[in-house]
Amino acid sequence: MTKVPVVTFNDGYQMPAVGLGTFQVRGGQGVNQILAAIRDGYRSLDTATNYDNEGAVGEAIRQSGLPRSAFFVTSKLPGKYHRYADATMAIQESLYRMGLDYFDLYLIHWPLPKRDHYVEAWQAMIDARTRGLIRSIGVSNFEPEHLDRLVKETGVMPAVNQIEAHPYWNNQRMLAADQQRGIITEAWSPLGRGSAALKEPLIQKLAKKYEKNVGQIILRWHFQRGIVPIPKASNLLHQRSNLNVFDFNLTPEEMAAINGLSQADGRIDGQDPNEYEEFD
Ligand SMILES: NC(=O)c1ccc[n+]([C@@H]2O[C@H](COP(=O)([O-])OP(=O)(O)OC[C@H]3O[C@@H](n4cnc5c(N)ncnc54)[C@H](OP(=O)(O)O)[C@@H]3O)[C@@H](O)[C@H]2O)c1
Repeated sequence: MTKVPVVTFNDGYQMPAVGLGTFQVRGGQGVNQILAAIRDGYRSLDTATNYDNEGAVGEAIRQSGLPRSAFFVTSKLPGKYHRYADATMAIQESLYRMGLDYFDLYLIHWPLPKRDHYVEAWQAMIDARTRGLIRSIGVSNFEPEHLDRLVKETGVMPAVNQIEAHPYWNNQRMLAADQQRGIITEAWSPLGRGSAALKEPLIQKLAKKYEKNVGQIILRWHFQRGIVPIPKASNLLHQRSNLNVFDFNLTPEEMAAINGLSQADGRIDGQDPNEYEEFD
């Protein structure tokens, strides 16, 4: 089984350097896909209340037969629950649905700055952490000004910011902003959600050179930038190969060339965190 390195947060906890995304992985079929990934060595599982699959992820953890302590479980707070009392309830309900008594990492899914309740949500997460329901607290899709406001109003810096990042949207600006603040960056849709990035001639050429597949080249690029990718893969060969990215090195020139694929309008669905209002 592949040995996956870990990254260390600003609060001292650690997370595997690759995790399994679970968006659209649901029901019995989803449980089986997650179980297969666990057998291949995945320990970090990324879910969210808005994926409607916290039950499936929890069930796969139970069916794996491994102890709870073997896993690193992340879930996320939906926008409709940013108010303090709602956030407190939502964390508890997520844990009940998963059959767990704590999260390794819990994130505010989107900042929704127009609604402007994310500081309340953050305070609820700080308090849930004090009560032992969460180990590390973080955010997703936060811009620099949102990060700074959390610190100004609560004194607590997020451990993680999970943001969109892939070859067409390298998000260097937010990576630098996170690094300046000692925050670990996770990449969502690290493979561009299976988009044209996987067919880029440059990436195909590198795949040939290193005898890897295109997904592995992209994941290695994230890793060497200091980003933790959470690729979603239902295909068992994809799952397995996505974990196997720690035995080769892209050169600085190759890293720069992949960075050069980024596009000004490269976001998958144009989701600007200052505008986007999730689901509800
Ligand atoms: N925080 C947020 O706002 C947010 C937003 C979106 C997503 N996320 C999280 O990020 C996770 C990953 O993002 P995503 O699911 O949107 O997209 P993704 O991981 O970039 O791409 C998934 C797609 O890539 C394919 N794939 C996986 N490995 C491959 C490989 N080695 N070679 C070729 N194709 C491969 C998968 O196919 P198969 O399934 O057929 O293997 C699937 O179609 C989500 O599942 C979710 O947990 C978070």
